[in-house]
Amino acid sequence: MADAKTIGAVKGMNDIRPAAAETFLDTAVWQRIFETATRVLESYGFRLVWLPVVEETALFARGIGEDTDIVGKEMYSFADRGGRSLTLRPEGTAGAVRAYIEHGLARNEPIQRWWYFGPMFRAESPQKGRYRQFYQIGAEMLGVAEPGADAELLAMLWRFCSELGLKDISLRVNSVGDAETRKAYRDVLRGYFAGHLDSLCEACKGRLDKNPLRLLDCKRPGCRNVVEQAPDILSTMTPGARAHFDRVLELLTATQVPFVRDARLVRGLDYYTGTTFEITTSALGSQDAILGGGRYDALVEELGGPATPAVGFAAGVERLALLLSSAGVPTVAPDLYIVPMAGAEALAFSLADALRDSRKLRVEVGVAGHKLKSQMRRADRVGARFALVLGDEELANRRGKLKNLKDASTVEVTLTGEALLAQLTGMHT
Ligand code: HAM
Repeated sequence: MADAKTIGAVKGMNDIRPAAAETFLDTAVWQRIFETATRVLESYGFRLVWLPVVEETALFARGIGEDTDIVGKEMYSFADRGGRSLTLRPEGTAGAVRAYIEHGLARNEPIQRWWYFGPMFRAESPQKGRYRQFYQIGAEMLGVAEPGADAELLAMLWRFCSELGLKDISLRVNSVGDAETRKAYRDVLRGYFAGHLDSLCEACKGRLDKNPLRLLDCKRPGCRNVVEQAPDILSTMTPGARAHFDRVLELLTATQVPFVRDARLVRGLDYYTGTTFEITTSALGSQDAILGGGRYDALVEELGGPATPAVGFAAGVERLALLLSSAGVPTVAPDLYIVPMAGAEALAFSLADALRDSRKLRVEVGVAGHKLKSQMRRADRVGARFALVLGDEELANRRGKLKNLKDASTVEVTLTGEALLAQLTGMHT
C-alpha cells in the first residue's frame, strides 16, 4: 500500500513482473501469450507493427464514433505544449488505418496483414478483467473485401485460443450489415423499443434515438427481457450483406470452427460494417469478452483514404492471462545457475557464454565472492534446474559437480562448454 511518502501506480494500471503474486500479472504468462501470438499470427502471414501510443484526438472521435462510450467518456485526452488535443490510444484499429493511409499503402501494396501487441487506455471503472491501461493483441487485414478473409481470421483466432489451451470459450458471430441494412434496422428497432419504454433503463431510453443498436447490448434484467424478443437484423439485411454473411458462416462450418450465431451481438465501436464477432468465456464474470472484432469497410475512407475494405480483431491480454494463470504459471527459470567463488568469474562467464551460444539454454551467473550458501539459496529461489559451483578446486582440476536442484543428485562433469552442454541437454530430454 502506498503511504504519504511513496507513490503508487495509477489506479487501474498494473505492473507486469516476474513471479507476480497475482499470477495473471506474471511475465512468464505474458511471454507465453506473446510467443503463441507471434507463432500463430505469423503463420497466417501477419507482420508486426509498432505504432504510436498517442494520436490526435480527432482520429478516435472520427474513427470510433462521437456517440460511443469510449469517445464520450473513457478517453485520456490532453492538450500538448502546442495546444493540440492528443489522446492515449483506447484501441489500435484507428491508428493502424491512419498509418496505412499515411504511408500510401492503398496505392502501392493495398493488401496488408498487420498485427500488434501493446498498451491501450480507457478510463473505465477498474474491476477484475477491466483496467485503465490494458494490453491488446490485435490484427488488421486491409484491402480484402471477400468473406474468405473474415472466415480465415476467425479460423486463426480459434487456432490461437486452442494453442493457448483456453477452455470454456465460445465464438459468437453476427453481422451488422451494410449502411442500408443498419438504417432500416435502426428504424425497426426504434419502433419496437418505443412499444416497451416502461421496461427500459434510463441509459437505454437515452440511447434509443441516436443508437438503438446499442440497446441490444444492455445487461440489465428489464432490458434483457425486451431485447430477447427484438427483431433480428436479418429481417432488414440487404441481399448483398446477407450473401456475404452467409458465405462467412458456410466457410466457418466447412473449416470446422465451432461458432454460434448471436443476433444480439453488437460492438461498442461505430466503425463496423458487416461481420462482427466476439470470443467469450464463462470464467471471467461480467468481463466475459476475451476478444472482439469485425469488418470495417468504410473506415479507411472516413479517415481520408481511398475506399478500402478491412477486417480485424483485438484480444485483451489481461483476460487471456487471467484464464491461463489459473492453469499454472509456465516457468522461464534458468536451466543452470553457476555459483562462482571469488576469482572464478572468468571461467563462469566463458562457460555460460558457451551454453548460451547453443541457443538452447538459459544460464544465470551468481555474484562472485558472495557466500556459497546465499548463492545456492538464490539458485533455488529463481527456480534453476541445475547448479554448478566453481571454487579453487574446480578451477585447478577443470572438473566440477553438476547438482540437480530438484532431487539433489549430482554428476561429475569436465568444465568445458561442450561437456556441460552435452550433459545438460541430455538431462533435458
Ligand atoms: P474491443 O472489443 O473494444 O475492440 O476490445 C477488444 C478486447 O480488448 C476486448 O474483447 C477485451 O478483451 C479487451 N478490453 C477492452 N477494454 C478493456 C479494459 N478496459 N480492460 C481490459 N481489457 C479490455 C477493439 O478494441 C477493436 N479495435 C477490435 C478490432 C480490431 N476490430 C477490428 N479490428
